[in-house]
Amino acid sequence: MADLAKLKAKGEAIVAVSLYDAWMARLFEGAGAHVLLVGDSLGMLFQGQRDTVSVTLEHVIYHTRAVRAGAARAHVVADLPFLWASRSEDEALVALGRLLQEGGADSVKIEATERQAPLIARAVEAGIPIMAHVGLRPQTARTLGGYPRQGRDAESAAAICATAEVLADAGAYALLIENVPDSLGNEITARVRIPTIGIGAGPGCSGQILVAHDILGFSDTTPPFARPFANLGAEAASAAQAYAQAVASGQVGSRPPPATRR
Ligand code: KIV
Repeated sequence: MADLAKLKAKGEAIVAVSLYDAWMARLFEGAGAHVLLVGDSLGMLFQGQRDTVSVTLEHVIYHTRAVRAGAARAHVVADLPFLWASRSEDEALVALGRLLQEGGADSVKIEATERQAPLIARAVEAGIPIMAHVGLRPQTARTLGGYPRQGRDAESAAAICATAEVLADAGAYALLIENVPDSLGNEITARVRIPTIGIGAGPGCSGQILVAHDILGFSDTTPPFARPFANLGAEAASAAQAYAQAVASGQVGSRPPPATRR
């Protein structure tokens, strides 16, 4: 966490990725990612569900252990799943602790409003570092009717900015800002001392995060603000097809020639 604060102080961008397994963790850590988030977007991209509501604490612990196993140095953040932050503080604290103790996370991300400020203060006091997620909070997609951009008018932008300041004052070590106008990402970044990590919040944040599947072009639910850096979905589909055809024509089973062996 101190390293993330230093990166912000030096004006160097924090590289963060949301992913769910050891192999991806190794890949992105090897590429220089500072932060690996075990996001509850795994509900859509791993479990094939329509949103994050299906994701349980046990699921996030399981995936965090996998990411931890693949990450030697990066800071691993686990997402607190749906509803836990609205439970009693005592119950939420137990869940936060399990993500560190059983999952091996370094810190926990909470989708938060000002109501979660006391929980954040208590968690930090107990030794659990918290990243607070503001702007679009995907766990509220069913009440929002999807994933609309937040803070589009002056009043709601001011409210998100005020929430961000309250959560920073409560002790969060970083803010994740999702799907807001660039100007709001800039304003929050200027107002808080802690690092901000944006996803669809403009290039002015202290760092950026995208979901690994979106980066690799391995998703059909990529949000408009996520830029794919490859088209592995199409390549994987043609490999799957080539494999099925090779099996059907009896070309699989014996040792492949050395040139194609890995
Ligand atoms: O769950 C997730 O992957 C996230 C990112 C979208 C930031 O919260």
